[in-house]
Amino acid sequence: MKQTTPKIIKAKHIGFCFGVKRAIAAAEGLLGEHKKTCSLGPIIHNPFVVEMLSEKGLKVISDIKDAKGACLVIRSHGIPPALKKKAQEYCTEILDATCPFVSRSHKIVSKLRKEGYLIAIAGERRHPEVQALIEMAGPGTLVLTKKSDIRKIRPRKVKLALIAQTTISRDIFVEIAEALLRLDYPECRIFDTICNDVVGRQKEAKALAGRTGVVCVVGGKNSANTKHLAEICRKVGALTYHIESADELSPAWFKKALSIGVVSGASTPGEIVEKVVEKIKNIIL
Ligand code: F3S
Repeated sequence: MKQTTPKIIKAKHIGFCFGVKRAIAAAEGLLGEHKKTCSLGPIIHNPFVVEMLSEKGLKVISDIKDAKGACLVIRSHGIPPALKKKAQEYCTEILDATCPFVSRSHKIVSKLRKEGYLIAIAGERRHPEVQALIEMAGPGTLVLTKKSDIRKIRPRKVKLALIAQTTISRDIFVEIAEALLRLDYPECRIFDTICNDVVGRQKEAKALAGRTGVVCVVGGKNSANTKHLAEICRKVGALTYHIESADELSPAWFKKALSIGVVSGASTPGEIVEKVVEKIKNIIL
């Protein structure tokens, strides 16, 4: 019996989020004025966009000293205050493209620190956004990546506040928050600082993974929000493939599929997702 052609269901949340568009526009604006421009680390977590901007002249540096005499675009993840201060010594111009959602977390953390809270951050310690938050939150800051990390905490008689990396999985954040609330802190405040765009993509990925057997998650392998989308789809039980481009697709993935979902991260260009959809169509038709 001939197998029916699987249906491809593409998520509605496709293309760059607002913060990523803003950071790219900032870099392109400086490059358009023919200014020597650099970013500290890749401007967004997508290799194709980094490559495209590098062809236009954007230099990715890993040490702020290498920004000497150049303009610096602060990427959407933001940078720690001490580093920003240092950047002012070296750079001719600084264009701060920190995403407003990330800036909101900065303000919350600074206020909580002044008010004497011990701050816990739900997120990945090595992520640049979290690195900046750790510095702002001060000594003793807790970083919790998963619920089981709570076991390492010895509650003290201090006021505690939890905030989230803007791109963390909301399900993981809720698990961490619930576990923290069970600990014996005199006060525990929870701030859900996950960005709306991220929550929307996560909800859609979960629903699509539940409806389809196979999901292709398109986005940089180093993109936190894309990695979380893949984790969410796997958790639901869908066969999940995290790819950066259509070149990675394999016909074997779709042999038994009845329907195929396609979702993407906030730093994935819409054209790359369209190419993935087109290639899947060519494979299954
Ligand atoms: Fe900002 Fe959310 Fe994008 S935090 S950079 S709008 S994923």
